[in-house]
Amino acid sequence: MNCFKEGEYILIRYGEKKFLRKLLPKYSLNIKKQVLKFDEVIDKPEGIKIGNFEIYRPTLEDIILLGFERKTQIIYPKDAFYIAFKLDLNKEKKVLEFGTGSGALCAVLANLAGEIWTYEAVQEFFKTAQKNFKKFGLKGNVKFHNLDFSKANVPENFFDAAFVDVREPYPHLEKVHKALKEGGVVGFLLPTANQVIKLLESLEKFFGNVEIVEILQRQYKTVAERFRPEDQMVAHTAYLVFGRKLISS
Ligand SMILES: C[S@@+](CC[C@H](N)C(=O)[O-])C[C@H]1O[C@@H](n2cnc3c(N)ncnc32)[C@H](O)[C@@H]1O
Repeated sequence: MNCFKEGEYILIRYGEKKFLRKLLPKYSLNIKKQVLKFDEVIDKPEGIKIGNFEIYRPTLEDIILLGFERKTQIIYPKDAFYIAFKLDLNKEKKVLEFGTGSGALCAVLANLAGEIWTYEAVQEFFKTAQKNFKKFGLKGNVKFHNLDFSKANVPENFFDAAFVDVREPYPHLEKVHKALKEGGVVGFLLPTANQVIKLLESLEKFFGNVEIVEILQRQYKTVAERFRPEDQMVAHTAYLVFGRKLISS
C-alpha cells in the first residue's frame, strides 16, 4: 500500500473546506474544536477518514490553487485545462510560453507536454515560478528563462504550440509565428475586450482558424438536503483566443 510519508503534502477535506498541508510530526489542524494530529496520518493509506477529516494526496489543481505562491495573477484551472486541450498537447509536443508569471499554467502544460520553454521578464516572478515547481516536486521538462520574450533567441519552426499571457502580445506575433512549426497552435489570454479587439486587428496576418471563448464555472454545494450553487463564483477571468499558424501561398 502506498501510505502517507512524513514530509509529503496532503490535502485535508473537512466539510466543504480544503487545506493543503505538509505532513510533519507533532503538527496538527484544528477546526471547530476538532483536531487532526498529523502523527496519526503518517503511514496511513490515502483516502483515510479520521474523525470528520478526509485525507488525500493533492491533485495538480489542489497544488496550484492552494499551494502555489502567487506573485502575479494566475491562470485558473477552469481556463488552464481548456487551454491545454486546445493546444492539443501530448508527450511528443514542444511548447513555447510567455510570461511565466507564478508558473500556474506552466505546471499544467508541463504535466501534459514533452518540453516547455517559458520566458519571464521579471526576475522576482521567474524565481517564484521555479520555487513553486521545486516545492511540489513538479516536472523537470521546463526550461525557465528570465528574459523579455522580445530579446529571446528562440528557434524557428520548432514548437508545436505556443501560449501567450502578457498584457501586450501584439509586438510578438511575428516571432511566435516563426517559432511555431507548420500548423502549430497558438493561444492568448486577455482580460479585457479592448485587448482582444486590438489583437484581432493584427492576428489574421499570421494566424487562421481563430476562436474566442470565455469559460464560466459555477460550483455547487455538495450537501444533498440543500443542493444549490455556491453564493460566489469565479466568473470572468479572461478571454481566450486561439489560432493556427497560417502560411501564405
Ligand atoms: C499574468 S502573468 C502570467 C501568469 C501565468 N500565466 C500563470 O498562470 O502563473 C503575466 C506575466 O508576463 C510577464 N511579461 C509581460 N511581458 C513580457 C514579455 N514581453 N516577456 C516575458 N514576460 C513578460 C509579466 O512580468 C508577468 O509576470
